Amino acid sequence: MATNRTFTMIKPDAVEKGHTGAILEKINAAGFRIVAMKKTQMTKRDAETFYAVHKERPFFGELVEFMTRGPIVAAVLEKDNAVEDFRTLIGSTNPEDAAEGTIRKLYASSVGENAIHGSDSDENAEIESNFHFSGREMF
Ligand code: RTP
Ligand code: MG
Repeated sequence: MATNRTFTMIKPDAVEKGHTGAILEKINAAGFRIVAMKKTQMTKRDAETFYAVHKERPFFGELVEFMTRGPIVAAVLEKDNAVEDFRTLIGSTNPEDAAEGTIRKLYASSVGENAIHGSDSDENAEIESNFHFSGREMF
């Protein structure tokens, strides 16, 4: 069942470079409502759990290192067709392939350090939201 919610993280590279405000502005302008939001830092264990689906991939160690090196901004967002529309807004995983005007085209520097995360399904949006927020923190 479509939930009309997705989960995002502004990744450490974009937070470090001071792009948080500009990225939130684009999310707002695209019509997403903020259901929950916080600035936090993932532990190694958090990142290994969150990205467990990639644990056999060659870039897993690098990914965990990157995602834990500084603060992130985690948020739950709401909009009709949220998962798909948010993936469109952020652009391709590799910023070189990302469409003009997308968040990754504007703010990502490489396939590894690509500025922002977006859930890839309604099911994962719910799992990922619950990983970072309790029910009482989502409004
Ligand atoms: P995300 O989950 O972060 O929204 O990214 P995605 O769906 O577009 O890409 P995914 O395949 O799920 O990969 C997760 C994250 O792993 C890093 N990655 N590095 N060095 C590499 O070849 C490589 N490939 C993927 C990226 O940070 C990617 O967003
Ligand atoms: Mg993914």
